[in-house]
Amino acid sequence: MAKYLITGAAGFIGRSIAAALLARGESVRGVDNFITGKRANLIGLEKMEFLEGDLTRPEDCARACAGVEVVFHEAALASVPRSVADPAGTHLHCATATLNVLIAARQAGVRRVVYAGSSSAYGDTPTLPKHEEMLPNPISPYAVAKLAGEHYMQAFARVYGMETVVLRYFNVFGPHQDPTSQYSGVLAKFCRGMLAGEPPTIFGDGEQSRDFTYIDNVVHANLLAAVADASRVSGQVMNTATGSRVTLNQTFRILCELTGFQGKPVYAEPRAGDIRDSLADIHRAERLLGYGPLVNFEEGLKRTVEWYRQGSGEE
Ligand code: UD1
Repeated sequence: MAKYLITGAAGFIGRSIAAALLARGESVRGVDNFITGKRANLIGLEKMEFLEGDLTRPEDCARACAGVEVVFHEAALASVPRSVADPAGTHLHCATATLNVLIAARQAGVRRVVYAGSSSAYGDTPTLPKHEEMLPNPISPYAVAKLAGEHYMQAFARVYGMETVVLRYFNVFGPHQDPTSQYSGVLAKFCRGMLAGEPPTIFGDGEQSRDFTYIDNVVHANLLAAVADASRVSGQVMNTATGSRVTLNQTFRILCELTGFQGKPVYAEPRAGDIRDSLADIHRAERLLGYGPLVNFEEGLKRTVEWYRQGSGEE
């Protein structure tokens, strides 16, 4: 019987958490519906018990949660522009699916649910860094749906006494992130494109900034969140990031060095629903989890470029 369930296990973040747990010899179950997850992401995770299932179906949630102690809920349609194009789809697969997971987890006697929150909850407030005491101010349908999931986590902690922990991720990147969709994260797209000699498109003037967070840091925070003392962490929201930021223009220059790309970027209109700057205050996760970033931005980018260079992102 699996001790851990990972939803979105064929996605970039889910498969990375699964790999870390399996490396520790843990028993892991994964579930994915392959809307954005990839079968190729399951390679190397053969010891994981895998269920193909859709979390919008309560019966699939029940199957996934049976006998499990801790759930890492990573499944989502993780894209701001995708949510602008299809707000109902994002709501269904982010908000409704999260409620279904919580209901099934409670029925199955799951002890703790760790949730992939999103920094988009903060919206476009000028205050930097963003800290958890700030009032949420979601702009995009994606941000609203992910924030609804956070509130359900907190409600289940308060009302039913379930242990729930929200990690608010800031722009996660690294190996296994899908570079092929129009909705892909910017670094995956830029790495793959620039390695192929294609000029990247920068939406806006490129001076927008992000707290880009390498995947190992996110995995680290999740493993800590699974074991931290419930009296300290249950019902809490914690930023999961590095506490530093870079602009897209700076990122482009670093990527030129790492990939050997010699062209110029194409500048295009700013994207609807985008925020300008994003930077996390990570003190709460430091205090409550003992979290600190393990890999900085440049080192993470170097490892990511290496991974795409080996052609690993092609399917
Ligand atoms: C947002 C959320 C993040 C969430 C992610 C899911 C914020 C701060 N972050 O990230 O929590 O997990 O959505 O997708 O809201 N860009 C280009 N060229 C491209 C692609 C993107 O210039 O080809 C720009 C975008 O316009 C944006 C930046 O790069 O300004 C980052 O975009 P993206 O990687 O899609 O992530 P966010 O929307 O910041």
